[in-house]
Amino acid sequence: MKLSLPALREMKRDGRPIVMITAYDHPSARIVDAAGVDLVLVGDSAANVVLGHESTVPATMDEMTMLTAAVNRGVENALVIGDLPFMSYQVSDAEAVANAGRLIKDGGADVVKLEGAGPSLERVRALVSAGIGVMGHIGLTPQTATALGGHKAQGRQADAARRLFLDAISLERAGCFALVLEAVPAPVATTISRRLAIPTIGIGSGPGTDGQVLVLHDMLGIPGDGREPRFVKRYAEIGELMGAAVAAYATEVRNHVYPAEEHTYTIPPEELEAFQNAVDAGSIEENTLADW
Ligand code: KIV
Repeated sequence: MKLSLPALREMKRDGRPIVMITAYDHPSARIVDAAGVDLVLVGDSAANVVLGHESTVPATMDEMTMLTAAVNRGVENALVIGDLPFMSYQVSDAEAVANAGRLIKDGGADVVKLEGAGPSLERVRALVSAGIGVMGHIGLTPQTATALGGHKAQGRQADAARRLFLDAISLERAGCFALVLEAVPAPVATTISRRLAIPTIGIGSGPGTDGQVLVLHDMLGIPGDGREPRFVKRYAEIGELMGAAVAAYATEVRNHVYPAEEHTYTIPPEELEAFQNAVDAGSIEENTLADW
């Protein structure tokens, strides 16, 4: 059964950790949903993880809608979160609502995520008024990483931590149903999580948040842009397995080992004989090739 937003809040109240992971395609979506995660984020990290860009900034609405639809078709139980890409919500409330609506109507997302507080608060209120569930995202916000001085931990000075604390409260008041805290010192993330009624989902923010999120390719060991933040834990080395499998396939093709008999289709001997006779007599080409 689909996880609901009230059920998510209940998980926080009961102290049950919330598990979130990214997915960008249909087979991965099926796998992570069957593994029992609670939330699947079709993150704009797709731009650097699967589309070969340097950052999340180039992700477009067309790309995010297509990826979200593919993921949604593979998910039965988890809540699917569509990520609003850079400049799809910054310009106006109307654009934010239209684009979030697209992720939901065309992409099949259950809810959306956007980054930042400050100017994003008005957007959150507009989306929530339009009946759209919004997950916030503060701390290291990749869409504005340049302005933050790169991919660095945030809130490491008292003032910056105070700002994050206030941003978190403001986003909760604006109507967010949950909040991602990215690269925030663990004690700061814990304090924010305890203060909020809505769940916090940490990435690189220690064990005191109400849930955790990782990028699927990072935790599976599938290399992307070469950046590996310290908070990533690899649960498998799928990249190595993929490389070894493709190398084995190439060797077998070159050595005429693959395909073997069990990988081929058969034809009844009498049908084959008739076909072969026709080829040998040249009758197929004479009779039909002119009309082909
Ligand atoms: O786009 C993304 O994958 C994200 C997560 C890292 C939270 O925003």
